[in-house]
Amino acid sequence: MMNEIININSFEILDSRGVPTIFTEVVLENGIKGSASVPSGASTGIHEALELRDKDLNRYKGNGVLNNVKVINSMIFDAIAGIDARRQKDIDKILLDLDGTINKKKLGANTILSVSLAVAKAAANYEKKELYKYLGGTLSYLLPIPLVNIINGGAHANNNLDIQEYMITPIGAKTFQEAIRWCSEIFYNLKDLLKKNNYSTSVGDEGGFASNFKNNEEPIKYLLKAIKMTKLNPERDVMISLDVAATEFYANKKYKISSEDKSFTNLDMSEYLLKLKNKFPIFSIEDGMAEDDWEGWSHLSNSITDNTLIVGDDLFVTNKKRLLKGITRKAANSILIKLNQIGSLTETLETIDLAKRYNYETIISHRSGETEDAFIADLAVATNSMFIKSGSVTRSERLSKYNRLLILESSDKNLVYSGLVYNEKI
Ligand code: PGA
Ligand code: ZN
Repeated sequence: MMNEIININSFEILDSRGVPTIFTEVVLENGIKGSASVPSGASTGIHEALELRDKDLNRYKGNGVLNNVKVINSMIFDAIAGIDARRQKDIDKILLDLDGTINKKKLGANTILSVSLAVAKAAANYEKKELYKYLGGTLSYLLPIPLVNIINGGAHANNNLDIQEYMITPIGAKTFQEAIRWCSEIFYNLKDLLKKNNYSTSVGDEGGFASNFKNNEEPIKYLLKAIKMTKLNPERDVMISLDVAATEFYANKKYKISSEDKSFTNLDMSEYLLKLKNKFPIFSIEDGMAEDDWEGWSHLSNSITDNTLIVGDDLFVTNKKRLLKGITRKAANSILIKLNQIGSLTETLETIDLAKRYNYETIISHRSGETEDAFIADLAVATNSMFIKSGSVTRSERLSKYNRLLILESSDKNLVYSGLVYNEKI
């Protein structure tokens, strides 16, 4: 057969922060190849599958991945050589069994994921299909609404903001192309506004501005001004989304809002977010509570009862079991999906499937450490996910995903911008 895996070449490359990561290429018998690179987080959830590194302090401060590459080129290759690359589920099962641990600590989630994604790409190439068509079949029709992060704080910037991400959400655009144009124009109007007020216009890890602000509310006011300068309406056209990443400032049952010198219980925190939401056109709140504060999550979900997205990232870590717990406790209504939180394509697709069965919105997401690989753009379309989060509209590792979606919109007339569907739904 021509579709069997006959070779694997894995290498150590660098991600957008200049930290080593894994690139893996899978080769099939007829010479067709597929490759993938793995992203990496900074505000990583404790329940994520393990990202394995060499820990050799003589190289890259211990962050090298030469052992991962060696394992892929030898042990993993031996285990999946000769198998039809289209048997994704079977191949992922072999990889999980080879690891044999709950959090993939033996081989590393980064190791397994690079092979899992490269296999999918090789199979799509073998079938002569675009990746989204190969993964999603003929039922894929949605281009996601981008959650574009244009002010960075928390662990992604060296400024005073507690909230990690301030995003704009072009729900009112008619096409993906229009959505991206709006976001870029808002970004540059924001830059002018910041400059005029002597605020720094240097950027953080995800390409958003990393200025210092008076408090956590002020960036929202700036975003609203920039949206209006672009002659757009902040309720109808472009709303605000937040990733609070609250786990990062939670300790001893308290949320410590350093920029405002406040220390909150989960009830106070819920109240704080509700006030923000009532004051501003907020579309979604991600990780408003810490990863294990289930009680806090229930408070938040009970207090915000309109159609605001309450999104679990560190809470769910793309893990079916944690999502199921959240569904039972009514902890949220949406889930962030990050392939490397769980470590294989099959498990990611299963989590998306579970979310959809319980009417959770799925937001396919990048990591703060990224590469030029645009796999998540295809994954969003393949799974008809209403949203994608890929950082700012600057820096190529962020834009590779948005650019892929721009190209898909132009080349496949059957694809529809999710904004149209979302507005029909509400
Ligand atoms: P991370 O941040 O990739 O640093 O974890 C992204 C997020 O929290 O959504
Ligand atoms: Zn997050």
